[in-house]
Amino acid sequence: MKQSEFKKRRKQLMQRVGKGNIALIGSAAERVRNRDVHYPYRQDSDFYYLTGFNEPEALAVFIPGREQGEYILFCREYDETKALWEGAHAGLEGAVKHYEADDSFPIDDLHEILPGMLENKGKVFYPLGRDPDLDHSLLEWINHLRGQTRRGITAPGELVSLEHILHEMRLFKSPAELKLMRRAAEVSAKAHVKAMQACKPGLYEYQIEAELLYQFYQGGLRHVAYPSIVAGGKNACVLHYIENKDVLKSGDLLLIDAGAECDHYAADITRTFPVSGRFTEPQKQLYQLVLDAQSAALEQIRPGLPWNAAHDAAVEMITKGLVELGILKGRVKKLIKDEKYKPFFMHRIGHWLGMDVHDVGDYKVEQEWRLLEPGMVVTVEPGLYIPHDYEKVEEKWRGIGIRIEDDVLVTQGGYECLTAGVPKTIDEIEALMQAA
Ligand code: GLY
Ligand code: MN
Ligand code: MN
Repeated sequence: MKQSEFKKRRKQLMQRVGKGNIALIGSAAERVRNRDVHYPYRQDSDFYYLTGFNEPEALAVFIPGREQGEYILFCREYDETKALWEGAHAGLEGAVKHYEADDSFPIDDLHEILPGMLENKGKVFYPLGRDPDLDHSLLEWINHLRGQTRRGITAPGELVSLEHILHEMRLFKSPAELKLMRRAAEVSAKAHVKAMQACKPGLYEYQIEAELLYQFYQGGLRHVAYPSIVAGGKNACVLHYIENKDVLKSGDLLLIDAGAECDHYAADITRTFPVSGRFTEPQKQLYQLVLDAQSAALEQIRPGLPWNAAHDAAVEMITKGLVELGILKGRVKKLIKDEKYKPFFMHRIGHWLGMDVHDVGDYKVEQEWRLLEPGMVVTVEPGLYIPHDYEKVEEKWRGIGIRIEDDVLVTQGGYECLTAGVPKTIDEIEALMQAA
């Protein structure tokens, strides 16, 4: 992502924050895994969105109209020893030269410098509740300023959620963001295809996970967007199954929900296919129903339609289908009203997708479902899960879990599927697996 993109975002943010006010946001902290080993570092999405700066121990400050510079970055000072052991870091000079901060200060001097920046500001835009230490410091600085009024200083009078402005911006993807999302989708789609080709009875779920990770890395993407779900047979009915430890059996389905991240932008794909390469009759019937529900939902993805229309369309298709298969009994309308489909389809049709897999942005505006607009990216992921011990349904259905998930961009004319690279019809899947 080019620096000009981050700059554009900062400009938009400052316009919304307005002169006389200030906005602050901290970087993500490094997290200890054990002793002196850390988890792989992932920058806070909001912080990265505005700065492109990928280091911990940093804080970005935005002061619209400040003559000495509107964008100030507090970060770690350059340290030769650190550079020798851990590699490059920007330092104060780099923050200005490479990240286009107007000014930079050592993070160790935050407590001396920042209170002065808060003087005489009206509102502080800040994401309260993420970093208890920083929350505490901010309130202390503001309190301290309140005690200084005799010097003619005013303390900020209002704390405002920074997320509200920022997340509205993040909901609409720019061409530069879509380029990264397309890459994440393309590499992830290829990984799903390879996983289907590699699958056979007797392998373990983690061996299929290894195939996915191999493809992500080969594609240059070293972060998963979320832990991969590789769930054979009844494990697919556990929505967030990530143990991936069981052996794959002929006659079972395999549900894979996996996506890579490309420069902080996620893909999120699910496919379900037979371990042996051929669906059984009951599996075919349920699979086709989920696929039909996805098609019905996708028809509701276009500008001007409410976000919930896709969910309602999927619920209707699934409920009708369950009645036809004898899994539910009664009138479709009444079954929907009584939410009788919920034991089998218990999640929503999807979510916004972007830097976070469950991306930011409001789903309702003034209590009403939001209307879709071009530039939004959503997942469409209906599923059916029949618990293995659910005795109210015929045995042939039990222990089957199916989800089909694609990532779609809302366009002027409807939608564009970013994850079309993985087959999903019964014939396509069987043909791909037979050819492997
Ligand atoms: N992979 C998480 C989800 O599908 O929402
Ligand atoms: Mn999803
Ligand atoms: Mn998913």
